[in-house]
Amino acid sequence: MKIFKEKLGRILASIALVVVLLGGVVGYTAWYHLFREVPITYASPEEHFKYGSIGTEPSQGVPYWIWLVLPRIFADKLPHPGGYTALGITWEEGKETPVGFTKKTIGFPRVGITCAVCHTATYRTSPLEKPHIFPAGPSSKFDLQGYIRFLGATAKDPRFNADSILDEIKYNHEFSWIENLLYRFLIIPQTKKALLKQDADFAWMNSRPNWGPGRIDPFNPVKFNTLQLPQDDTIGNSDMMPIWNQKLHQNFALHWDGLETSLKETVQTGAIGDGATKDSLPVADLQRVEDYITELSPPKYPFTVDEKLAAKGSQIFASNCASCHAFGGERTGTVIPVDEVGTDRHRLDMWTQQAAETYNHFGDGYPWDFSQLRKTDGYVSVSLDGLWIRAPYLHNGSVPSLQDLLAKPENRPKTFYRGYDVYDSQKVGFVSEGEEAKRVGFKYDTSVAANSNQGHTYGTDLASDDKQALIEYLKTL
Ligand code: HEC
Ligand code: HEC
Repeated sequence: MKIFKEKLGRILASIALVVVLLGGVVGYTAWYHLFREVPITYASPEEHFKYGSIGTEPSQGVPYWIWLVLPRIFADKLPHPGGYTALGITWEEGKETPVGFTKKTIGFPRVGITCAVCHTATYRTSPLEKPHIFPAGPSSKFDLQGYIRFLGATAKDPRFNADSILDEIKYNHEFSWIENLLYRFLIIPQTKKALLKQDADFAWMNSRPNWGPGRIDPFNPVKFNTLQLPQDDTIGNSDMMPIWNQKLHQNFALHWDGLETSLKETVQTGAIGDGATKDSLPVADLQRVEDYITELSPPKYPFTVDEKLAAKGSQIFASNCASCHAFGGERTGTVIPVDEVGTDRHRLDMWTQQAAETYNHFGDGYPWDFSQLRKTDGYVSVSLDGLWIRAPYLHNGSVPSLQDLLAKPENRPKTFYRGYDVYDSQKVGFVSEGEEAKRVGFKYDTSVAANSNQGHTYGTDLASDDKQALIEYLKTL
């Protein structure tokens, strides 16, 4: 009996060992293929800005191989041929992802977005030229709304299934049998579910005017999705901002309406707004971004400037604009009441006292914390550094060029095309009319809610020679 018992004990122990080992192998395999986090680091601060993670992959990352083949399977759901570039995304030659998109492995490679997707400006001198790329400038062509809608539309389509996606991935990559199983039964179905949820989370967009390229509603997603505040009917559509040269912006109010006063918090809320979570917010990586935009100077105007005319323009600027826009100007970087500046007030009204208070408590208990969010009553008299590549102008991007901004509001274009980045050095802005601009661009109609081009009448009474001189000077900022 005793011998039998010992034998049984040994057998049981061996079985237990095998089970533990097997469990370990299964556990390790699952961890390796689903959760293992591989940090990405770029030595260059610019590459870090363009391609480094801001913590959006755990919650918002789309599996890389699926993301890569979606435009091929669903080309019919994009506005033009050209894959993701049809959504105004810039893809540098030889890179695995476009500017502003990361490829980060958390179990499997995932694609997240970074600051650079919105904060990278481009221009071309002709339609055939490759874009000149300026990190930290405002994108005039990235269509985030189009991107969100594209992903949602693919998930709703019956072609979003394991067979067709795996068939298409084969052209790029060969999965191991285990990856094949994971993609077929877990990753593809879960991605479909997540994209459908994202589509539902953004359904509120559909009852409001379209953003169009180079614009987003920056804080309604935060209000409704992140802070879970009740939906309202506000429209926050606003133009991308440049974020370079922050060393000269110290103590300036931040965001179009000055809802922040701390650069650190603006950077961190930027990452939260893009999909980083409380637990994934990468404080040190974001510090690198902050250091980069603090030191980075804006790009110089790339075409000829008439220096003599610009010198005359600098006098006109000094007497008409400098108090609100020059570094050291007495009101530069402060909030100018909306009734004084007279521009569209929708963006201002979108942000509420309640939203500011709720966001200030968002990070309670975390090593980072927000406390500087607030409600204001106007728009910031922003500094004009790198102005030449910031068109269309004003917080809602309602005025296509500097020439148009200096025209009386009733003479500014009532409709024009946005999202075409060929440069117009005559008017100082992007080409916003004509066949090509129409084919590629989005028709901006100033009669639509939140799109008004009224207000900011400074300089509109100047003689036309003086306007020319002023514009020449503005090119040099
Ligand atoms: C989806 C597009 C998008 C992404 C991604 C994005 N931003 Fe922004 N950012 C904007 C827009 C639009 C504004 C202006 C919003 C407003 O106030 O209406 C802005 C404003 C800012 C400002 C204020 C600039 C000023 O002079 O007042 C800073 C600073 C900034 N962003 C930094 C960042 C950083 C850093 C990241 C990445 C962590 C980031 N943003 C990610 C679109 C984006
Ligand atoms: C009383 C303060 C004030 C004066 C004076 C003033 N501005 Fe402005 N400016 C503002 C405010 C506030 C905004 C933001 C308004 C908005 O976007 O709704 C602005 C926005 C702008 C913008 C848009 C920047 C961008 O990135 O889109 C330009 C360009 C500009 N101003 C040029 C000028 C010029 C040129 C003059 C002089 C002829 C001038 N401003 C005079 C307050 C002022």
